[in-house]
Amino acid sequence: MHIAETGSALREILKNAPRPVVLVPTMGAFHPGHLSLMRRAREIAGPDGTVVVSIFVNPIQFDRASDLAAYPRPMASDLAACESAGVDLAFTPAADSMYFADRSVTVSETLLSRGLCGAARPGHFDGVCTVVLKLFLLTGCDASVFGEKDFQQLAVIRRMVRDLDVPVEIIPCPTIREADGLAMSSRNSRLTPEQRADAPRIRRALLAAAGLTSPAEIIASATASIEASPLSRIDYLSLVDAETLQPVTSLDRPSVLATAVFYGEVRLIDHVSIPKTSA
Ligand code: PAF
Repeated sequence: MHIAETGSALREILKNAPRPVVLVPTMGAFHPGHLSLMRRAREIAGPDGTVVVSIFVNPIQFDRASDLAAYPRPMASDLAACESAGVDLAFTPAADSMYFADRSVTVSETLLSRGLCGAARPGHFDGVCTVVLKLFLLTGCDASVFGEKDFQQLAVIRRMVRDLDVPVEIIPCPTIREADGLAMSSRNSRLTPEQRADAPRIRRALLAAAGLTSPAEIIASATASIEASPLSRIDYLSLVDAETLQPVTSLDRPSVLATAVFYGEVRLIDHVSIPKTSA
């Protein structure tokens, strides 16, 4: 496996790389969800194509300096995981090699990114779009794999690619879950044993509500089930259009029931898709 620490080293290695080039953008601290993205990338690339994994804790998508500082960076074990997943090239830039100190251009999505997770994290999705577009340009990738767990991020990236004619195919990859249904996340390890035991209620609440027939009932049911726990606190719980992520008041289109729930300081997200059931 090659390792590139700068954009120019990356470009040099990829100059004659066999296509397709498939990129998995990550911030490291791998769990089985990341490994499933790498496996999917290998499937898309085939045995002869090139799988690139970027490991970069992107400072411009953090709204709190303390979160950025606390973000885990187990680089040695992440690189070992890439190697055993058959990755061809790991890109591990330092922040000052990705961004000029006086950078003044940002990619800004102005509709899908404003609600849900974006409401409490101003600038977060601008940071994500900017780094992802830079990674697409640096690697010249043909396709890129994103987890469906971060469904708002996936929708925003798709919109960026559509609106800016970015020639990269976006490949979604299903959420990987623990045996009890909790979506895998590097944050799960920060839950206390009591919080961890309680957290699968999020998934159960969403699934039970998804079977109901009106938006009001769906929201009320999921809210009540999550709030029944004294350990959890809802940050948001919304029913939104699956493509535009704008709130819906009827089930006349595919929609998504999405939530972010705090357990103490740890914020967990999850969602379920709800098919169109009325005209
Ligand atoms: O999902 C993530 O880990 C990050 O938001 C991404 C896509 C790697 C951009 O920094």
